[in-house]
Amino acid sequence: MSQTQLEVVKSMYDERSAQYDESDVHVRQAQDYIAWANLKAGEKLLDLACGTGLVAIGAKHVVGKSGRVVGIDISEGMLNVARRKAEAAGLEIAFLNHDVSDLSGLDIVPKDHSDRLLFDVITCASALILLPDPLQAVKNWKSVLRPGGRLITDVQTKDANVVMNIFSAIASAVGETVPWHLHLWQSQQALATLMLDAGFHVERIFETEAYARTHYHLGTASELFEKAVNNAMFKGFGRAEVREKAKELFIQKFAEIAGLKGTIDEETTYWVIVVTRPG
Ligand SMILES: C[S@@+](CC[C@H](N)C(=O)[O-])C[C@H]1O[C@@H](n2cnc3c(N)ncnc32)[C@H](O)[C@@H]1O
Repeated sequence: MSQTQLEVVKSMYDERSAQYDESDVHVRQAQDYIAWANLKAGEKLLDLACGTGLVAIGAKHVVGKSGRVVGIDISEGMLNVARRKAEAAGLEIAFLNHDVSDLSGLDIVPKDHSDRLLFDVITCASALILLPDPLQAVKNWKSVLRPGGRLITDVQTKDANVVMNIFSAIASAVGETVPWHLHLWQSQQALATLMLDAGFHVERIFETEAYARTHYHLGTASELFEKAVNNAMFKGFGRAEVREKAKELFIQKFAEIAGLKGTIDEETTYWVIVVTRPG
């Protein structure tokens, strides 16, 4: 990933880290990951883009002392929250700072690469859309997963985040770049194709329940913009040089999506995929 984009992601999540666990959506999705991963005591799990450790900590409770959990993230702020939580719970989890797009150079797998030492499970929750080259990334992940091991990841469905979609659509017009790559994830099939191209076997692909439902009115689009630019995710659009133009375009795009009804109903759902590495 280009350094600038990685720097943007890093500072965005450093800034969000203290409040991140207030997001009920992420907390609930992480709990569901534990079920989707079908973890067993003693298994070794690698949680990529682990954030504040929501999945990693839940997983450690299941795999127990005989199992092993490693979490990797690029945001030291998120990692520090994860480390504090694990320590407070008396759980031994290694939380490492690294770019998950390329795990090479990271000493998580002993050099002899015997299958016994590879991970049984890899999870990457709510982060695939942040990777600019997901195919290269998942091919790389395969090299640390044992044959028969499983990988679980997700992307948000295409209409799951209206605000994010609008900012993505207007970014180039105001000279902003966004670190998520929504254009890659316009269908559930895109997720299956990625995994097949990377040489995985697809076990399950499904849409989650709606973790949240939001009803937006065109009349409140301006307020929505103001609230959004106070958030670390969208603050670039609130810079003095672009703010007015960005706001105008935001409201225009909102109106376009809302159509004659003047409202948008958003459902926070994800496409989830469970794959295995062929033996
Ligand atoms: C929406 S959060 C998800 C965190 C966690 N997986 C969860 O479900 O709560 C996205 C996370 O991805 C991390 N991230 C994004 N791109 C990354 C990269 N290239 N390498 C490592 N971490 C990355 C961010 O720092 C952030 O913690």
